[in-house]
Amino acid sequence: MSDHPAVHAAERAEARWVWIVVAVIAILLLMTGYMSLHWLTMPPQRMETVNPGTLHLAGEFVEANLGSAQESDGSVTVRVVGNQYSFTPQCLVVPVDTPVTIRATSSDVVHGFSVTGTNVNVNLVPGYVSTFRTAFKHTGDHTMPCHEYCGVGHAAMWARVKVID
Ligand code: CUA
Repeated sequence: MSDHPAVHAAERAEARWVWIVVAVIAILLLMTGYMSLHWLTMPPQRMETVNPGTLHLAGEFVEANLGSAQESDGSVTVRVVGNQYSFTPQCLVVPVDTPVTIRATSSDVVHGFSVTGTNVNVNLVPGYVSTFRTAFKHTGDHTMPCHEYCGVGHAAMWARVKVID
């Protein structure tokens, strides 16, 4: 330590920068914490896994189990598989004004699953079950295009949702 004024000024500047660095680190930690909270509040999408290689052999997504199924509580579960370049089934039939849970996955690459005119919009990721809860307010048909580029046949990959009374 010296009594020279320039040295004091340098020490003050140094102390100031220490606090600035501490503040920046604290802000970064707070941002990390806040983002963790944000992800904790997200719906539990992609939490369920499934083996994409055996979808057609066993389990929930065998072909006989696809499409709409009535649940004991009156709701409907719709199971869908996307693959290059179609959805199975090609037409989802669902009742109007009924809680619908969509459970879907992909057997090959990432596909998009959206129902035109609704907020139904998820990605189908191989290895994961995508879920979406909704209810259709009106009868009628909706197109259901794949909205994630998945290869040369992407533009031709679409299906239909038929809402019936
Ligand atoms: Cu499947 Cu684009």
